[in-house]
Amino acid sequence: MSTRETLLHFLEENKGTPVSGSRIADTLGISRAAVWKAVKSLQEDGYTITAVHKKGYRLEESNDILSLQSIYPYIKDPDFFPSIRVYKTLDSTNTTAKELANDGAVSGTVILAEQQTAGKGRLGRSFSSPSAGGIYMSVILRPTAEIETSLLITSAAAVAVSRAVKDVTGAETQIKWVNDVYLNGKKLVGILTEATMDCEARTIDSLVLGIGVNVLDVGFPPEIEDVATSLERELHRRFSRSMLIGGILNELQAVWKDIGTKSFLEEYRRRSFLIGRRINVISPVKTEPGTALDINDMGHLIVKMDSGEIRKLNSGEVSVRRID
Ligand code: BTN
Repeated sequence: MSTRETLLHFLEENKGTPVSGSRIADTLGISRAAVWKAVKSLQEDGYTITAVHKKGYRLEESNDILSLQSIYPYIKDPDFFPSIRVYKTLDSTNTTAKELANDGAVSGTVILAEQQTAGKGRLGRSFSSPSAGGIYMSVILRPTAEIETSLLITSAAAVAVSRAVKDVTGAETQIKWVNDVYLNGKKLVGILTEATMDCEARTIDSLVLGIGVNVLDVGFPPEIEDVATSLERELHRRFSRSMLIGGILNELQAVWKDIGTKSFLEEYRRRSFLIGRRINVISPVKTEPGTALDINDMGHLIVKMDSGEIRKLNSGEVSVRRID
C-alpha cells in the first residue's frame, strides 16, 4: 500500500474523529511532512478531511467517496471478496467485470464505479448511473452448482439487497419479478446477471452479477422520473454507500453459500410486488393481461392469463407490468 492508501485506511478506521498528525506519523512510520503531503493529495481528490486545531486530521462522516479502505471495514469475510476495484468512471462495471473474468479473475472479485457512461439494464435497456448518485457494482462469481441452480443468483441477489437495505436504512422493500427492488412502489434497484458458459462441459464458467442502487436524489432521465426512486428521495436522508455495499456483499455471500437449498425463495415470495396482482405480460410481439399467482422453485412467475391458460414465465422471454 502507498502512503496515501495507508493514510486513507487509518482515517476511514477513525472516521468522524480527529487523529493527530504525530500519531498518524508514528503509526505509519512516516514523517509529519509526509502525512501532510498525503492529506493534501486526498483533499485534492475531493476527500473531506478537516484539520482540527490542536487535534489533528478528521475524515468527515459525510465523506462518501468509495475506496477499498471505505468498504473493507464493513465486510465480514474479506477472504470471500479477495479483490475490490473502485474506478472513477467506467462504461459499465458489468463489461469490465466480464473482461476480467475472461482474463481469469477469481470468484468474489468486485468492480465498482462512481459513475457509468453506458450502464446496462435488462432487455437491452440502459441504466442511469450519474456520478456519485448510487452504487454501480458487479461481482464475479464462479459457480460450482448446476446451471439452473446457479442462475437463481439473480433472484437471490434481490433478496440479499433487500436485506441490506433493511439493515442499513430500516426500510422494507418489495421485489418485482424477476429482480427489480422497489421502494414505495417505485424502482430503487436494478440487477443484471450475465453468464459465460462452457458449452462443451455444460457448465457456467463465470457469472457477472451487476447491481445498481439509486442512493442520492440526483434526478432521473425524464422517461423514468415517474417510475424510479432513490433512498434519499423516499427516506429524506443520505446513507453511506460504503456501508450499504458492505451489507449487500455480506448478504450476497450468505445467499450464494445456500443457493442449492433455495431457502431464499420464501423471502423472495413474501417480498413479491406481483403475486396476487393483475399484470400485463409483455413480449416483443404482444401484451396480454393476466393475474400473477406464484413464483415456483425455478424462479418462474406463474400467471393465470385472462384466457384461462396457466403460464410459467421465464425471465429471458418477457417483461411484466403491474396494472392494479
Ligand atoms: C435493470 O434494471 O434492467 C438492470 C440494471 C442493472 C444495473 C447495474 S449497475 C452495475 C452493473 N453494470 C451495468 O452496466 N449494469 C449493472
